[in-house]
Amino acid sequence: MTTPRCDKTAAWAALQAHFETRGKAFDLREAFAQDGQRFENFSQQAPHVFADLSKNLICADSQALLLALADQCGLAQQRDAMFAGAQINTTEQRAVMHFLLRKQPPAQYIPAQAAINKLADAQAEVETTLSAMLDYAEQVRSDAAITDIVNIGIGGSDLGPQMAVLALDEFAASGKRLHFVSNIDGAELAGVLRGLKAESTLFLVASKTFTTTETMTNAHSAKAWFEAQGGSHIARHFAALTTNVQAANDFGITATFGFWDWVGGRYSLWSAIGLPLAIAIGAAGFRDFLAGAHAMDEHFRTAELARNLPVRLGLLDVWYRNFHGFSSRSIAPYSSALRRWPAYLQQLEMESNGKRVGKDGQPLPFDTSPVLWGEPGTNGQHAYFQMLHQGTTVVPVEFVAIRQAAHSPHDLPGHHTKLLANVLAQAQALMRGKEDAGGHRDFPGNRPSTFLLLDQLTPASLGALIALQEHRVFVSGAVWGINSFDQWGVELGKVLAKDIEPRLQNGDISGLDGSTAGLLQRLRPG
Ligand code: F6P
Repeated sequence: MTTPRCDKTAAWAALQAHFETRGKAFDLREAFAQDGQRFENFSQQAPHVFADLSKNLICADSQALLLALADQCGLAQQRDAMFAGAQINTTEQRAVMHFLLRKQPPAQYIPAQAAINKLADAQAEVETTLSAMLDYAEQVRSDAAITDIVNIGIGGSDLGPQMAVLALDEFAASGKRLHFVSNIDGAELAGVLRGLKAESTLFLVASKTFTTTETMTNAHSAKAWFEAQGGSHIARHFAALTTNVQAANDFGITATFGFWDWVGGRYSLWSAIGLPLAIAIGAAGFRDFLAGAHAMDEHFRTAELARNLPVRLGLLDVWYRNFHGFSSRSIAPYSSALRRWPAYLQQLEMESNGKRVGKDGQPLPFDTSPVLWGEPGTNGQHAYFQMLHQGTTVVPVEFVAIRQAAHSPHDLPGHHTKLLANVLAQAQALMRGKEDAGGHRDFPGNRPSTFLLLDQLTPASLGALIALQEHRVFVSGAVWGINSFDQWGVELGKVLAKDIEPRLQNGDISGLDGSTAGLLQRLRPG
């Protein structure tokens, strides 16, 4: 199906006109005063996640026009193509089927039918691999001799598992310490190894490609350390999570858990890359995590677009980026457990949608991914919220709040109530503002925010929250007509680093620009 580029649709022109006449001057305070039902009208419950969009600069008309834009850009058809297993990652000729990793296995698998249905076939493979991975996770959990698990991976092979393990710490098995090493800076690996013993350590080498320089350098150093400590049983102390099983075998690892090229790195937490999480929360917990994500998949796949939360969020992102011109979004999880949430979302959204050409490779005349940034609340309040309230630039904020602490609440009285009071107050202050006699104490207000609310932070609700974000990124990417599933922009720097590395040793600066040559000479070992 061919659809016009989004900025050439009638809906885009209508949104532009609407922005000029009403969007630009929209005032949240007035909107609430005029519509006693605004909260109800602009909020919704999706699986595990309640979302209040009412403090955003939208009205019924802007929402209707955004839905028309989605329609004219073929959003539903693009979504359906992904769920049908079409090769929507057109620059790498790959399907995009991370949703399949969390689909419930059919009660009975019938190979004869599966043969004519590649999705069923793939799903059967997913279930076999998942079962093996979860059995292994349980085995590690019950192995008292293993006390420390070190995940070596970067990007999608680090951010997702690390974020989720921290988020679900309350569900984690006691007695196992999980460490994450990603940076090629040896200080990171050395710092972790300092406290470990070879005989009680399990290394997970997590790399979709098994070629990433950082991960391979750290993995080789970990293996050398292990052997130097007298460790010899590589099969017991190293496992690989990868699509490149051959390379893992060449490295000397025999315990491998695979996945498929239709799982993008930043969408791989649901695959073998999730092993650290499975070790932390157990097989049943991991299946709950998948089930929560699956519930959100079903919502995205089947809910009418007007009541489809990923669609509403993705369209809001387009509205803010292309019409209001907001260039960033601040991520504010009011939960210390979600402290890696902003970093996780940075890769998910900026690596997916940080593209300047359309699917046809032609430059686009409009903006795409915003910058995502943030820290957990309340910490951010004491750092950069000054700018959010009184700076010259409007930055939409996306809050996440959790109604109650999970199954083993800490027993420090008053903390959670204070935390919730703060998140509500910040959203309120951004919107309301405050007029004061002096300019320094004036708050302009009318600053937008979205409020995502979980009843509890559990494996299922975290799964749903992540899937919500994945699909929301899909939605804005689909409207923009970009390929959200490649990442060519990371390649150039990798190639140049390979050229520069030997020059740092031999001092060769031939062919380098003046700045790189000057810096290289100063950085050479003295
Ligand atoms: O360099 C970017 C990237 O390719 C990410 O997309 C990916 O998540 C990360 O590197 C790690 O890749 P791998 O899992 O293959 O080591």
